[in-house]
Amino acid sequence: MRTAICPGSFDPITLGHLNIIRRTARIFDEVVVLVMFNASKTSPMFTIDERVEQIGRVVAHLSNVTVESYGGLLAEYARRFEHPVIVKGLRASTDFENEFQMAQINKSINPALETMFLTSSEKYTFLSSSMVRELASYGADLSTFVPREVIGDIQKKAKRGK
Ligand code: PNS
Repeated sequence: MRTAICPGSFDPITLGHLNIIRRTARIFDEVVVLVMFNASKTSPMFTIDERVEQIGRVVAHLSNVTVESYGGLLAEYARRFEHPVIVKGLRASTDFENEFQMAQINKSINPALETMFLTSSEKYTFLSSSMVRELASYGADLSTFVPREVIGDIQKKAKRGK
């Protein structure tokens, strides 16, 4: 049984994330979407538990996908798998440097760990959670950016933040 880990901060999950999760679920037997803390992203919109619950709703129809959170290092979490594989999406060259660095550091902590990248779908190369948060703060239509299951949550949170 080959399991892939799709880690991220998912604050909130976007259609770009969902595209990577779906494609990973077609390649691997099982996928764990792992909600994690990103030290460079302060002032989150949603708590980790809220994000786990939201993603659970979004991937409910994908039978080989589960959602978890972990507060430690990704490389440590991955030790529970015999052949751990991380799958991440690459949007553009701007993602590459940071992702390459994380993959190298993770491997130095856990040499069994492999990181694979899927190129993001053309439709979503511009899309990020931070852009969604900004659009939400202006009351913009989010339907082409995030799964419909989370639109209401984002709108509510954006309104409360004003
Ligand atoms: O969606 P993001 O914010 O680009 O995901 C980054 C994330 C959360 C995967 C990364 O920050 C991470 O792995 N955090 C967990 C802590 C950790 O292992 N840090 C070392 C990575 S170099």
